Amino acid sequence: MPDLNEPALEFLLTRRSRPAKTLVAPAPTRAQLTPILTAAARSPDHGKLEPWRFVVIEQGAMARLGGLAEACGVRLGKSPEDIAKGRSQFDMGLLAVAVIEVQTPSEKVPAIEQSYSAGAVCLSLLNAALASGWGANWLSGWMTHDPEFCSQGLGLKAHERIAGLIHIATEGTRPPERPRPDLEAKTNWISA
Ligand SMILES: Cc1cc2nc3c(=O)[nH]c(=O)nc-3n(C[C@H](O)[C@H](O)[C@H](O)COP(=O)(O)O)c2cc1C
Repeated sequence: MPDLNEPALEFLLTRRSRPAKTLVAPAPTRAQLTPILTAAARSPDHGKLEPWRFVVIEQGAMARLGGLAEACGVRLGKSPEDIAKGRSQFDMGLLAVAVIEVQTPSEKVPAIEQSYSAGAVCLSLLNAALASGWGANWLSGWMTHDPEFCSQGLGLKAHERIAGLIHIATEGTRPPERPRPDLEAKTNWISA
């Protein structure tokens, strides 16, 4: 029989995000965040390219990023509603880790596998934060796909993209559970 890690399995079977708008202070300190980042860095990565890095957005940077999101929204001709929604995650944000996908040219590892690896880092970061007792939520938003927001806001280079903004703070009101996928409809078993 395999060696069951019951608490780990129980965590994976019950884990759920906590919506960013329900998070409250305090956010983790740098010391508290370090093991969470360390866990996230331990993610599958074909060819050891390490195609990702972190930018930790502390509360002091949120107002600047909110203002920048608004300016980018105006430049892009976004609706007032989209602009307000876009900047709201920074206006309410206490701490967020931007997981940056860093593409490295490789003959062996296609670009999409590097994207998958950055996505895996996002999920590991989210899970490590949740497992540490924090509330956490993986957000994106139109501004995360705007190269000007990425370069001016987070200092990204041309070969870098935001894979996710993982908001982490203290859990507030817990909303109802969301429906989960129908496993049978999602799974084919091939035995020959
Ligand atoms: C790449 C990616 C981007 C996302 N962006 C947003 C977003 O901008 N706003 C949002 O409300 N949820 C967004 N979500 C969804 C939530 O992070 C999350 O999937 C949902 O709250 C349920 O998560 P859970 O299965 O961990 O409970 C995104 C998810 C992914 C994978």
